[in-house]
Amino acid sequence: MAARVSLYLEILGVACLLATACAREVNQFPEGFLLGAATSSYQIEGAWNEDGKGESIWDHMLHEHPEYGNNGDNGDVACDSYHKYAEDVQALKELGAKVYRFSISWPRILPNGDLDVINQAGIDYYNNLINLLLENDIQPVVTMYHWDLPQALQYIGGWPNPILADYFLEYARVLFDNFGDRVKWWTTFNEPITFVRGYSTSGGQAPSQKARGIGNYLATHTVIRAHAKVYRLYDEQYRSTQNGRIGITVGTNWYEPYNDEEENLAAQERILQFELGLFANPIFVDGDYPAVVRERVDNNSRAEGRPRSRLPSFTDEEKRMINGSADFLAFNSYTTMVVRSAEFGFSPSWGRDTGTYRWYNLSWPASGATWLRVVPWGFRKVINWVSTRYPNYPIFITENGYIDSGELDDQGRISYYGQYMAEMLKAINEDGANVIGYTAWSLLDNLEWNSGYEVKFGIYHVDFNSTERTRTPKASASFLAGIYRNMSVPEEYFT
Ligand SMILES: *[C@@H]1O[C@H](CO)[C@@H](O)[C@H](O)[C@H]1NC(C)=O
Ligand SMILES: *[C@@H]1O[C@H](CO)[C@@H](O)[C@H](O)[C@H]1NC(C)=O
Ligand SMILES: *[C@@H]1O[C@H](CO)[C@@H](O)[C@H](O)[C@H]1NC(C)=O
Ligand SMILES: *[C@@H]1O[C@H](CO)[C@@H](O)[C@H](O)[C@H]1NC(C)=O
Ligand SMILES: *[C@@H]1O[C@H](CO)[C@@H](O)[C@H](O)[C@H]1NC(C)=O
Repeated sequence: MAARVSLYLEILGVACLLATACAREVNQFPEGFLLGAATSSYQIEGAWNEDGKGESIWDHMLHEHPEYGNNGDNGDVACDSYHKYAEDVQALKELGAKVYRFSISWPRILPNGDLDVINQAGIDYYNNLINLLLENDIQPVVTMYHWDLPQALQYIGGWPNPILADYFLEYARVLFDNFGDRVKWWTTFNEPITFVRGYSTSGGQAPSQKARGIGNYLATHTVIRAHAKVYRLYDEQYRSTQNGRIGITVGTNWYEPYNDEEENLAAQERILQFELGLFANPIFVDGDYPAVVRERVDNNSRAEGRPRSRLPSFTDEEKRMINGSADFLAFNSYTTMVVRSAEFGFSPSWGRDTGTYRWYNLSWPASGATWLRVVPWGFRKVINWVSTRYPNYPIFITENGYIDSGELDDQGRISYYGQYMAEMLKAINEDGANVIGYTAWSLLDNLEWNSGYEVKFGIYHVDFNSTERTRTPKASASFLAGIYRNMSVPEEYFT
């Protein structure tokens, strides 16, 4: 096998850029690479009002509007991981995971979002989970916020209210104080580009506030400030004793230009800057929004007759606080779309501001959802884009995965993971991208937000008809266990 892989490298005439990469075959993970699986609190925990937990914006929205959830599904019980976390850890152990990426539910720790009530039962739950993981040699990778804002903070406007940055800072302090002795990998937010949409649309994305093209940018602005405040807090008060690392999870699709015309290449750059750079540029480049984003939103706001831009500006002091406020870049990506230049969509809206039109190339293989096309080469391209634009930061792939309808013999998922991981390894071993970890989305079939339980992402099946919520490994779980044990991807995925 090794010989054939070397031959493959020679045939392609691949330049060996890094001495360390040359010492390894293209299908091998670097030593110490962190392989594992991922979940998030609202999607798996259930126990939505047990033991003192407060209501989140998802609890609130899906209770008030069951019609927003597919089949009326909600996260009241979900995978019942609040009671069954030991089974989750057992699954991770079978998988040979070195890391488990999960999120902490803010309203389970602080039911009102503030320090007036600190819920010890919530702290105990995460202590038990973290301790059990460590007993099994699995490192926790903890997301502080994965979309489940305490509803109490939505009553004061949620993320568009700048004061949320201060509330988030106090919440983070509680997490560092209680868990920071054992948690060494933190990310502040998961995919803010996704959850700020909840302030831009109604009918499915919590908290379903339709301030289109306005609320999303106000939320963005608070989230970036909140992230940086928490990073600086860790730096000043916790790093010297806790020695962890702290980053933020950002995400984007890859966008392939419709053709090589200049305007479409510019559209490709714009959409990547609007979807990823909006968050990544301030934190990983220079403390501010990408110039093209600033210019387009300002200009459109002016044309709409507004006295101010819909996208707020950072003060110089904020820019200094934000610039460089991360130890690593956590990254989620699933698929690829085609993009061309166009003034398209409602005015005002983020979509119109991007100056693009985007669509799925229907010749690319589908998964169990129209939006998730299987385009492995796009994964290599997007990793390289991130690695080139933000060169000083190690990349941790925190989400990547495949949708089907839940079959145990999930050959489609196996093929997806084999191909995507092969492309990731080419980015690492041939292109020199500094990727340090990968957590498959998802450990379990779970509540896919407003798409409900029908959309299956799990490498473990969960029986949602049984009160036991029985976990059963799918074929992909043993496939990934083989890769994790061998620290290599089978050669057939490289041809
Ligand atoms: C941002 O931080 C980087 C690295 O610390 C530094 O080189 C750069 O000059 C800073 N940029 C601005 C605009 O302050
Ligand atoms: C700014 O907006 C005006 C009016 O919509 C438009 O004509 C112009 O091309 C825009 N300029 C830029 C740089 O986008
Ligand atoms: C769509 O995919 C097919 C097959 O890969 C390719 O030939 C075609 O050029 C693609 N079209 C666009 C617009 O990307
Ligand atoms: C419950 O079982 C039925 C019949 O086997 C199945 O069609 C349905 O998808 C199951 N529901 C869930 C949520 O798994
Ligand atoms: C792991 O390595 C063994 C021995 O080389 C091989 O038989 C097996 O197919 C590999 N499994 C995977 C998933 O790479």
